[in-house]
Amino acid sequence: MPSKKRQILATCALPYANGSLHLGHMVEHVQADIWVRFQKMQGHECFFICGSDAHGTPIMLSAQKAGINPEDLYNTYHNEHKRDLADFAIDFDNFYTTHSPENKQLAELIYQRLKDNGDIESRVITQAFDPEQNIFLPDRYVKGECPRCGQADQYGDNCEHCGATYSPTDLKNPVSVLSGVAPIQKESQHFFFKLEKYAEQLKEWGRGGHLQTQVANKLAEWFAAGLHPWDISRDEPYFGFEIPGEPGKYFYVWLDAPIGYMASFKNFCDAQSDIDFHDYWDKDSKAELYHFVGKDVMYFHALFWPAMLTGSGFRLPNQVIVHGFLTIDGYKMSKSRGTFIKARDYLEHLDMEYLRYYYAAKLNSHIDDIDLNLEDFQLRVNADLVGKVVNIASRCARFINKKYNNQLADAVSEPALFKTFVDAGNDIASLFDKRELSHAVRDIMALADKANQYIDEKKPWVLAKQDGQADEVQLICSMGLNLFRLLIIYLKPILPHLAAQVETFLNIPPLDWASRKQALTNHTINTFTPLMQRIDSNKVLAMKETASHAQTSAADNDAQLGAC
Ligand code: 2FM
Ligand code: ZN
Repeated sequence: MPSKKRQILATCALPYANGSLHLGHMVEHVQADIWVRFQKMQGHECFFICGSDAHGTPIMLSAQKAGINPEDLYNTYHNEHKRDLADFAIDFDNFYTTHSPENKQLAELIYQRLKDNGDIESRVITQAFDPEQNIFLPDRYVKGECPRCGQADQYGDNCEHCGATYSPTDLKNPVSVLSGVAPIQKESQHFFFKLEKYAEQLKEWGRGGHLQTQVANKLAEWFAAGLHPWDISRDEPYFGFEIPGEPGKYFYVWLDAPIGYMASFKNFCDAQSDIDFHDYWDKDSKAELYHFVGKDVMYFHALFWPAMLTGSGFRLPNQVIVHGFLTIDGYKMSKSRGTFIKARDYLEHLDMEYLRYYYAAKLNSHIDDIDLNLEDFQLRVNADLVGKVVNIASRCARFINKKYNNQLADAVSEPALFKTFVDAGNDIASLFDKRELSHAVRDIMALADKANQYIDEKKPWVLAKQDGQADEVQLICSMGLNLFRLLIIYLKPILPHLAAQVETFLNIPPLDWASRKQALTNHTINTFTPLMQRIDSNKVLAMKETASHAQTSAADNDAQLGAC
């Protein structure tokens, strides 16, 4: 690990502001937040940026249905997301929106630069159009019978029954989802970004260690299939930014969404006096840029976005960090099975740190899906956090509090054991940095086992009853609390609230990684209070109940149609 202070900018994908966040979203936010908190604990400058993805057809139509402005709709969800994220301790430096003046200005700038390069072409295309609603229909807004297997009620892009992919014009007996009438085919002029011009540069970037192996392989497949011009415009009515000089034409939501990373950061910089936007985004930037995203949007982040950045003269990401999907009890999230759990459903019943820990225990640097098995979740949190970690403090603190007037011994009784714990921090740090979180958690729990073993062997509760052992009991319990403190340093990126409680209990300033080297001796702590409760099965059941009773709102359905 370089000791030099790094300048880091990390982002999470901007969630669509037309539906509630669910536990699937939280995988990415938790993963990124842990990584960012870790970098901050190392003393690096690390900014964490996100915001709402506010544009597109679904949000416009949801607002129409609700009889409100799209601005009001996205604001409602923007505020809801902000609260949910804060309640999961996701500590963004800025959570902004793509519907902002900064984003408009940057989107126009990038578009203009691409246009000046000759990277934009226009041509007339034919598309499904709803003659009753007077609107062009994105693929997901046309339904009909699958051209391959004949299954009824299939979307215009693929068949959920036989897996065929096709275009809406191939559907038999197509109807508009909006009005139920048969769509007509209508021509319109669209604008395209000539992605293929950047093929060589993208290939080189793709080989440069900026992508996980599985993602780099996917990229190679896309190159092999050939790159095509990317349609970046949509016709009115559309909720987004109008393309300068092209009345009635709007930037496609995926054009301005990633630019939203820059806009959110710009808005943040403008509110601070000492952070320069250009230091992070100019072509020769020395700062590091990391995008955390799900595998469903890697096409946009590993292909379109780097191409847009290259064409418009900005720096490229150091890494696009892709994660897999979440399954719950082995199933895709589904409302009918009660496995569609909203972030708020969880928060109403359970402590957010349980889930942060469980996700960390499952995540690694690959893009495989992870499963939230609710029984395993309960067993694991109870065994590891309550049974192993917190238990160390409660076993030792009661003696220090009651018998030694809260005073820790003036020496570390087992320097070799203490050193083992301190040294382990190097490997654990490198695992956090590489996002090998499950491995880091395994190593931390192995240390917790060692600490418990130490206390089991020393048996301070037996010595406390013997004459002349007072110093020894104080030494053992102080040693135990020192080991506990080291475990909390290592767990702090994952469990920031537990760490804050421990800082109060131990009466110490905020823990950072370097502080592990200094033992706590001759120091007065505070009275121990229970730090974490066991997960009660009734609470898990109650959360599942809430989730299965949740109403399927129109906005949630539309959330599935985000990218239109
Ligand atoms: O898939 C989504 O939820 C998109 N709103 C992600 C956008 S990421 C970025 F490009 F803004
Ligand atoms: Zn089919």
